[in-house]
Amino acid sequence: MAGDEPKGRILVSDDEPGLREMLRVLLRRRGYDVTLVDGVRAALAHLGADPPYDAVVTDLRMPDGSGLEVLEAAREKSESTQVIVITAFAATDRAVEAMRLGAYDFLEKPFKNDVLLATLEKALEKHDIVRENRALRDHLTGKDSGLIGVSDVMQELRRLIARAADAPTSVLITGESGTGKELVARALHTQSSRRERAFVTINCGALPEQLMESELFGHEKGAFTGAAAKKDGLFRAAEGGTLFLDEVGELPLPLQVKLLRALQERKVRPVGSEREHPVDVRVVAATNRDLEAEVREGRFREDLYYRLNVIRMTLPPLRDRPEDVRPLAEHLLHKHATFQRRSLRLGDEALRWLAAQPFPGNVRELENLVERAVALAPGPEIDVEDLAGRRPPPTPGTGLPRPLDGPLPDPFDLDAHLAEIEKRILLQALEQRGGVRKHAAKLLGMTFRSFRYRLAKYGLGGDEEDE
Ligand SMILES: Nc1ncnc2c1ncn2[C@@H]1O[C@H](COP(=O)(O)OP(=O)(O)OP(=O)(O)O)[C@@H](O)[C@H]1O
Ligand SMILES: [Mg+2]
Repeated sequence: MAGDEPKGRILVSDDEPGLREMLRVLLRRRGYDVTLVDGVRAALAHLGADPPYDAVVTDLRMPDGSGLEVLEAAREKSESTQVIVITAFAATDRAVEAMRLGAYDFLEKPFKNDVLLATLEKALEKHDIVRENRALRDHLTGKDSGLIGVSDVMQELRRLIARAADAPTSVLITGESGTGKELVARALHTQSSRRERAFVTINCGALPEQLMESELFGHEKGAFTGAAAKKDGLFRAAEGGTLFLDEVGELPLPLQVKLLRALQERKVRPVGSEREHPVDVRVVAATNRDLEAEVREGRFREDLYYRLNVIRMTLPPLRDRPEDVRPLAEHLLHKHATFQRRSLRLGDEALRWLAAQPFPGNVRELENLVERAVALAPGPEIDVEDLAGRRPPPTPGTGLPRPLDGPLPDPFDLDAHLAEIEKRILLQALEQRGGVRKHAAKLLGMTFRSFRYRLAKYGLGGDEEDE
């Protein structure tokens, strides 16, 4: 069999050395890649590793535990892993239990080698089918690309990304805030042959014109006050990779001219320098503005618009593709529940309620709702109350606590009380701003960073960037 692909990766767990030895010889001779372990603990340790095993053969009664634990761990690790349970004791109720927990089959010792081999072969066939189905499903929902969605537009978009990923031409991504423009930009990069090189993001509205110019194209030492050292700029930092120009509609007009030149000539000239440097960079730009209107009104250069708009990707608002809400919500639930180490599911009514929401903040708003529900839902099922943020506060009384009405309780924990008020105001601000944290921060007159920090402090959010 030398040189051939093994027919399957199999984990065998049994405390009897004699049986392990027999299975080692039997299964290796058939071309399987076999790992043999002694007992439940050892099996669990091996099951944690990647990739998951194709099949597991486990004894039921072992000195350090039950084969049912091995079965459960294997099923939890991967739905395609098939488990065959063997036992010396004719225990029908255990067999029933094993099948209920998702075992592929149950064999009694002593078993005939042929029976085990035949069962294993069928189990591996099932493994292949489950895995293929999963791959197909992941492809249909977009899980394999990270861009979730079953709607026709999302499927078409994923095809377009795959086709356009390796083109050298610029891509313009448009869509409302929170529709996934940055995700598309990243997908274009990771699906291209540039994936090993840098993906560099710049927010074109973040800096005043002069600083932005040197940020993009670099500067010479002493080019302007404060330019203590020479700097390469982001175009050159993205050499061989992708430069993502976020909020490109915000770029000041004089810089639009310079950007256009850089794109046409594939060269950049640092501020204060006479020399031009060739660059090999794929440019992807995004905006939530109506760029055509900006062009008509003279705020965006038409020539730059045409240069960027060679390939156009449009992300429709979430409310126009309600069929995407369910797969997105489940994906986001999985993401945040894993992150917050909670085991939760979404109820049917909750999913229906979600699909009917207008989502002005699009996928980002959906994500914030799910994230908050994961933090606050008593569980195990997230319901409409948890999503809508309508779950009544655990303390009696409605509205904010009003400690100044009447005498204070004795003792009175001022810090806990203020914390409770702050927490509710944070949530209320989020609510009022459609779940968009950037906007909620603005409402409260604080920086996005500080808002996010406070949310995290109360366990109300992960710490990832959302702008
Ligand atoms: N199709 C999708 N599948 C999975 N996650 C998504 C999808 N679309 C958006 N998201 C998630 O929603 C959030 C917002 O997406 P993203 O930052 O890409 O939006 P955006 O269009 O760039 O928004 P803005 O215009 O406000 O910058 C991110 O956390 C992103 O991962
Ligand atoms: Mg963005």
